[in-house]
Amino acid sequence: MDEHALAELCAYAKKFAQLDAPKIRLLQAIHPLLAPRLDEVTDAFYQHLPTIDKARPFLEGREVSLKATHREWLESLFTSNFDLDYTRHLYKVGDVHVRIRLPVEFMAGGMTIIQGELMQLTSRVFAGQPEPLLHANAAINAATGFSLLVMQESYQSSSMAAELERFLQITGISPTLFKNLAKAYNLKQP
Ligand code: HEM
Repeated sequence: MDEHALAELCAYAKKFAQLDAPKIRLLQAIHPLLAPRLDEVTDAFYQHLPTIDKARPFLEGREVSLKATHREWLESLFTSNFDLDYTRHLYKVGDVHVRIRLPVEFMAGGMTIIQGELMQLTSRVFAGQPEPLLHANAAINAATGFSLLVMQESYQSSSMAAELERFLQITGISPTLFKNLAKAYNLKQP
């Protein structure tokens, strides 16, 4: 993905997920409160995932390394600036899942488990403080939504690339000819 497309994706995902600067600052501010208990979220994620039959083949024999990777990503939700570098990183994470042929619904399913666990954690950390709890949950929801939108874009791009490859195979059009045609077509656009 080129820098222009990446910047567009970052802005689009932020707008959709309502992830703005105050929410990013809040995530960083609550990080010290949540960090000591983030292991609980990762543990719950890896307890639930193996109960899903289709997920087991992707997990077997690599639980320890996956848990460490996942925990690192979880921490980044509360430390990142959600800038272009982070968007690029998340897009690549999405791509890793595409390459191992992880079904696309695992992204939404996985994030649903994570969101649910994070909400349980915040309700314990902010017990008796309804306002801070509301704001913390809104910021977390925005950050996980942003991550999901960016990771799913990898699936979308790779399925478009696969369709184009099939189209070129069927029609016998070379990739160079296709690029030239696309360029000429774009030039004629108003
Ligand atoms: C939806 C939230 C998820 C997040 C944020 C996430 C995050 C990550 C990250 C950061 C990596 C490392 C990527 C790299 O090497 O650069 C990774 C790899 C991996 N994830 Fe996920 N993941 C998610 C969901 C899942 C689910 C639901 C599964 C399914 C069981 C899964 C299975 C894997 C596997 C097998 C790898 C290792 C791929 C390889 O290196 O061969 N992930 N994930």
